[in-house]
Amino acid sequence: MVAPGESHSPESSNTPFDVDRIRRDFPILATQVKGRPLVYLDSAATAQRPQIVIDAVNRFYTAQNANVHRGVHHLSEVATREFDGARVKVQRFLNAAESHEIILTHGVTESINLVANSYGAKFIGAGDEILLTMMEHHSNIVPWQLLAERTGAKVRVIPINERGEVLLDEYEKMLNPRVKIVGVVQISNALGTINPVKQMIELAHRQGIPVLVDGAQAAPHLNVDVQDLDCDFYAFSGHKLCGPTGVGVLYGKTSWLEAMPPFLGGGDMILSVSFEKTTFNSLPYKFEAGTPDIAGVIGLGAAIDYLNQTRLDRIAAYEKDLLDYATAQVGALPGIRLIGTAAEKAGVLSFVIDEIHPHDIGTILDQEGVAIRAGHHCAQPAMKFFGVPATARASFAFYNTRAEVDALVDAITRVKQVFEI
Ligand code: ALA
Repeated sequence: MVAPGESHSPESSNTPFDVDRIRRDFPILATQVKGRPLVYLDSAATAQRPQIVIDAVNRFYTAQNANVHRGVHHLSEVATREFDGARVKVQRFLNAAESHEIILTHGVTESINLVANSYGAKFIGAGDEILLTMMEHHSNIVPWQLLAERTGAKVRVIPINERGEVLLDEYEKMLNPRVKIVGVVQISNALGTINPVKQMIELAHRQGIPVLVDGAQAAPHLNVDVQDLDCDFYAFSGHKLCGPTGVGVLYGKTSWLEAMPPFLGGGDMILSVSFEKTTFNSLPYKFEAGTPDIAGVIGLGAAIDYLNQTRLDRIAAYEKDLLDYATAQVGALPGIRLIGTAAEKAGVLSFVIDEIHPHDIGTILDQEGVAIRAGHHCAQPAMKFFGVPATARASFAFYNTRAEVDALVDAITRVKQVFEI
């Protein structure tokens, strides 16, 4: 076991990015699948965890387990200190101005549902508009559709081009006083597009419109600075950031969070309850009902420590090189169509092969030990735009290698042999 704050990897220094050393921090990467070394190219679905995260969760349940913000006994104080400490790590990770702007949730989906229900209930009514891009994940579409059904508001779609880039001119034209929120994904999970969110936020703010950024795919791959972006809300999930599943974050500007009503009722979000009147806790607890995933939050803090040590600027540069290599290798194969070819892209390579169904591609790749995702990636409107029901998607993280890209290319060649094309 590694002590809190202690690094498995010396990547915090100015030594070159050493992917072999990094891979040793991830025990699962040394395992085999179907008798072959695991080639894990599905980090957009969920990233793998370094030992430091596994140890932090294990340590909590082994030696620190108690509820937070409730007990006066030693263990509860330890658990509370670790839990609150993780919130501060998230605050610094996002460069939020205040730790109370960090709401701990169960993931991006809950974070967006929180905003849609709470901000939406107070600020969005009949005839108002909600702008979302064509490439949003279902998690940033459906909560708004549900709100629109309840209130009579309207969801409008910001169009994209054939490369999978937002049409900024069209977006600008859609901004008007009826628009009460813009929702935009920073990196598309299906296409890999890196959206110009800072510019989109600035355009929206000129008309006083707040912006929610879905950072599920961006937070693990880019340096995110919510003050620099000036976003009103930012959401990400722990499990895509090498942390545990079932834990996530909603960042919100204090002014909005103060103005918004609670979302879920119960537990920590309460100051006092009587049958006549209930008063609510201050931020961030106002939005944190019930016992949280304490171990998950502490594990998320460890994941942030790990990424800080590895350095996101170096991660982004390394992943960009890997994506460029993969795009050249896979794109050169006959019969391949890449879906999502934006000028600004992160480590997602979505593709289709002639008439072969992506699920067949995924199944044959699995026989070769190569794990990818096949399907619509919870982004069906984007799939429809490109005229495909689904894609095969390889997604890369900083622990992947060029040799693994070569294994992907070999496995795709095998798919083509099986289908005799
Ligand atoms: N949203 C996740 C993905 O893209 C699950 O695979």
